[in-house]
Amino acid sequence: MTSQWLWMYAKVGRCNLRVLIKRSLSTATRTETGNELILLDRKYSIDKWTNITENIISKVGRNLHVTPHHPLSHIRQRIVNYFYMQFHNRIGSPIFSVYDNISPIVSVDQNFDSLLVPKDHPSRQRSECYYINHDTLLRSHCTAHQKDFISMGLNNFLVIGDVYRRDEIDNRHYPIFHQVDAVRLCTADELFQNVNNSHDLKLFEHRGVETNEKQACHSLEATKMMEHELKNALTGLAETLFGSELKCRWVEQYFPFTHPSWELEVYHQDEWLEVLGCGIMRQQILQNSGAGERIGWAFGLGLERLAMHLYDIPNIRLFWSNDSGFLNQFKVEDINATIKYKPISIYPQCKNDISFWLPEDRSYSSNDFYDLVREIGGDRVEQVIFKDEFVHPESKRVSHCYSIIYRHMERTLSKREVNNVHKLIGKTAQEQLNVTVRA
Ligand code: DAH
Repeated sequence: MTSQWLWMYAKVGRCNLRVLIKRSLSTATRTETGNELILLDRKYSIDKWTNITENIISKVGRNLHVTPHHPLSHIRQRIVNYFYMQFHNRIGSPIFSVYDNISPIVSVDQNFDSLLVPKDHPSRQRSECYYINHDTLLRSHCTAHQKDFISMGLNNFLVIGDVYRRDEIDNRHYPIFHQVDAVRLCTADELFQNVNNSHDLKLFEHRGVETNEKQACHSLEATKMMEHELKNALTGLAETLFGSELKCRWVEQYFPFTHPSWELEVYHQDEWLEVLGCGIMRQQILQNSGAGERIGWAFGLGLERLAMHLYDIPNIRLFWSNDSGFLNQFKVEDINATIKYKPISIYPQCKNDISFWLPEDRSYSSNDFYDLVREIGGDRVEQVIFKDEFVHPESKRVSHCYSIIYRHMERTLSKREVNNVHKLIGKTAQEQLNVTVRA
């Protein structure tokens, strides 16, 4: 299959933005006119906003989270089982429904507007997300489906799937990862059912004010009851997965779609790792979805973070490995079995630096370079470290220096291969990002 780079330029404000698309695509194909892209069997027009790369396209539809015996699938099932066990109705049937095969292609409205994300919020930027066109993107979180499911009449549900974010390159970040997003909605009767004299208790308060503790429209007692149930459910989940010795802590956070909001952090290898975000859902979202008479909590949790911690997986790229040495370690009958990943072997790292002058029109973001490195280096690249920025005292030109650390998961890379890839990265950056590589 021939592959030819196709670049489009778009002027947005002062920036000259690039669109990175290869002419022949593996799982996605271009149609005759070249202005369309077929992704997961559907046709999308592409435009000046398009920034999805072939590397990403080739991974859409891999569905690691439902691949039998895959570590992400084990952990997904354990989380689902926990919710089935913890939340059931009078006759013992689980109340949460689970959706793990919803297409990751969503509208800007689903991913942002429906969740009250402000129009100028940084998470919407082209440098943060993979846009298929101006109105359509690969979801950056599974929260994107909340409004649709609530509008369909669901009160308790989990949405599990792949999410996409342009990001830095290191052993914990990968442009695709997996999330569980959960919503639970309650009526006053459900929330206060075990409280004595509960007829005095209300979900809503008229003419209230928003404080750190609650939204203006909610009563403090309803918010506190929901907060208690939410935090209990999540610390219970963490203890079910990791055992009761696990050290975790709650940190206050901000999300446009919840208030109050928190993050749960777990202590792992001498540092605190955030594993999930959660909060009391903005009542506006419930009202817009036809569930204004209820109150809701919600959370979003990253599967890779938990799996790395649970199975001692040192690098996030391993989840994408087809190597039987990796996959076979997770072939167990019982998904609750204790598994500790043993590195198959350690291949040597190889570090090469690159520095270049940025384009003078300032149309450069480091994420453009990271995507280009991923396109060309693939999974041979372990990490890209931004080393320094230098401003020439006279010309005021800006130069960036990065170290690229090459290491394959499954084989030793020869010095020659690394040098060739490194040279190609420099050449392509020069051609496509408009930078000038320094000798
Ligand atoms: N969507 C957030 C993220 O990806 C996580 C999150 C926070 C999801 C709060 C929620 C929520 O549903 O209520 O970082």
